[in-house]
Amino acid sequence: MMSTLILSRTERHVGIVSLNRPEVLNALSVELMDQLVAALEAFDDDTNIYVIVLSGSEKVFAAGADIADMAEASVVEMMERNNLARWLRIKQIRKPIIAAVSGFALGGGCELAMHCDIIIASESARFGQPEINIGVMPGAGGTQRLTRAIGKFRAMEMVLNGRFLTAHEAYQAGLVTRVVAKEQFLTEALRLAHQMAERPPLALKLAKEAVLKADEMSLAEGLEHERKLFYTLFATEDQKEGMRAFLQKRPPKFRGK
Ligand code: CAA
Repeated sequence: MMSTLILSRTERHVGIVSLNRPEVLNALSVELMDQLVAALEAFDDDTNIYVIVLSGSEKVFAAGADIADMAEASVVEMMERNNLARWLRIKQIRKPIIAAVSGFALGGGCELAMHCDIIIASESARFGQPEINIGVMPGAGGTQRLTRAIGKFRAMEMVLNGRFLTAHEAYQAGLVTRVVAKEQFLTEALRLAHQMAERPPLALKLAKEAVLKADEMSLAEGLEHERKLFYTLFATEDQKEGMRAFLQKRPPKFRGK
């Protein structure tokens, strides 16, 4: 099937996925989510791709789940859609994902950005969980990931009163990695992605896994898990290459093996 709600392209070792439903501010319909998951999984399976960038447009990242899709849905219909399964598949992507966010990242849009590993925000970015204004609450991890990112008291105001954070507030709160000028949000995300793509790709994947475990494991379990992943990398050619290159005072040539 031709993907239209999602645009995919590659630049060397970087896979770029863009949300493309401008008429409804990239509202995350079931069809869009299916295409998004397929595009991300295709890059995750592509051995030539090391880092993924996920963006919206300069005007909007995503204004959340598609309200028109849900307004009259019953509990049973919502359960049968099983959107959670799509979000879990995004969570399972092993390669680093950089979110390039400009304009609104609201509801499911904010939750989508929080499924990524690094968030580059334009000065115009606005982050919010306004579901409370339409009679519900976050349903794709917002109450959990936001609280872990910015703490209970700021998360509560966003979730309970629908307050939006500006890009600078989000940066100060720890929700975004970096704030850049509006016209640079995508080029900056791509610059970072290309820089990261020069690192050993297997180490990128295992390091992402280890950092994410910090939210899910106790400190003792997380340290144990990290240690095992660290040792695993000694089975890779890139570990030998990286350390030998350092000792030989030359740049390493990583091959993803
Ligand atoms: N779903 C469906 N359509 C949406 C949408 C959404 N989440 N957000 C915007 N649209 C549509 C509007 O209905 C409008 O369509 P029409 O032109 O046909 O009228 C079009 O996109 C443009 O939107 P606006 O005219 O509202 O644009 P604006 O610039 O005046 O306002 C906005 C922008 C503040 C983002 C406003 O659109 C808005 O508040 N959107 C809804 C945000 C929201 O509540 N998100 C949470 C959704 S629930 C969710 O995400 C659950 C979850 O946790 C998974």
